[in-house]
Amino acid sequence: SPLHPFLLKLPKCEHHIHLEGALTPQLVFHLANKNAIPLPNLPHYQSPEALAARYEAFDSLDDFLNIHYANMSVLITENDFYELAWSYFRAAYADGVHHAEVFFDPQSHTSRSIPIASVINGYKRALDRAGSELGVTSRLIMCFLRHLPVPSAHATFDSATEFIHDGTIHAVGLDSSEVGFPPELFTDVFRKAKDAGLQRTAHGGEEGDISYIKGALDSLKVDRIDHGIRLIEDRELMKAIAAKGTLLTICPLSNVYLRTTKSIASLPLREFLEAGVQFSLHSDDPAYFGGGILNNYCAVEEAFGFNIDEWKTIAIAGVQGSWIDKARKKALV
Ligand code: HPA
Ligand code: ZN
Repeated sequence: SPLHPFLLKLPKCEHHIHLEGALTPQLVFHLANKNAIPLPNLPHYQSPEALAARYEAFDSLDDFLNIHYANMSVLITENDFYELAWSYFRAAYADGVHHAEVFFDPQSHTSRSIPIASVINGYKRALDRAGSELGVTSRLIMCFLRHLPVPSAHATFDSATEFIHDGTIHAVGLDSSEVGFPPELFTDVFRKAKDAGLQRTAHGGEEGDISYIKGALDSLKVDRIDHGIRLIEDRELMKAIAAKGTLLTICPLSNVYLRTTKSIASLPLREFLEAGVQFSLHSDDPAYFGGGILNNYCAVEEAFGFNIDEWKTIAIAGVQGSWIDKARKKALV
């Protein structure tokens, strides 16, 4: 695209990237070997290339999640988590990211008997290095897996108390299989997070219908919706969300890979812009869905041909929707 140099330079903020989703096929095989973890005896685990090829054939969110969770079994030591996150930050910096609010899934590790401190201390080391060496500021968002029992979310929250009190964890989120796991289940644990001073976001309206967006807003008191593309199905709620300034964190390539949209061009981005719905653009899981944030900006540019003013509107929504103070916002726009 002729706008590529402009899109590269545009100061971008991340709000929707799962650190575990930055685990590349190469790193899966490297860590499996280092940690002596056997990979499943399946054709797509014969080589990193075979694994990457399998990613071109996801047929749903759950099809992806099954492989995503299987791959994470290679993450064992604090240093593994550090290496994973640091590889993400180097790539994000190269893509023109200035500020990154990143998700992680503690339960996918604690369920394998990895201490939550190994996960968080490893990630924190990478966040700190990104700040000091690259000037990339960041926030850590602890997500609950909605397919697991609600008491597991409470136990996870309680086990992270020290990292909540010392500010390492800035917010909570909600991810994994959406349909059948409504947001209302997590009302109490999100209330605990709010009472502890944490910000809140939740995946909603990716595969699930509009009730998953409404429930996240009304019961979980979120101030963002991750994905939220099915908001287009309710014009009244769309108006309300535009008026409130709730940010949607949209992941165009992810939506294509997981078949929640036919094509990028059929995403309702023009409708959202016209209605004043704030949204930002992200990769979701860069190792799985065709690359990082810049590839998503470029794919949207190819499909929509947004002009420079429209791109500025999108980039500014990302800065304004970030969980940072006024001074940092001013430095970013
Ligand atoms: N949706 C739900 N859970 C996830 C996703 C997603 O797009 N990516 C990683 N975990
Ligand atoms: Zn996601």
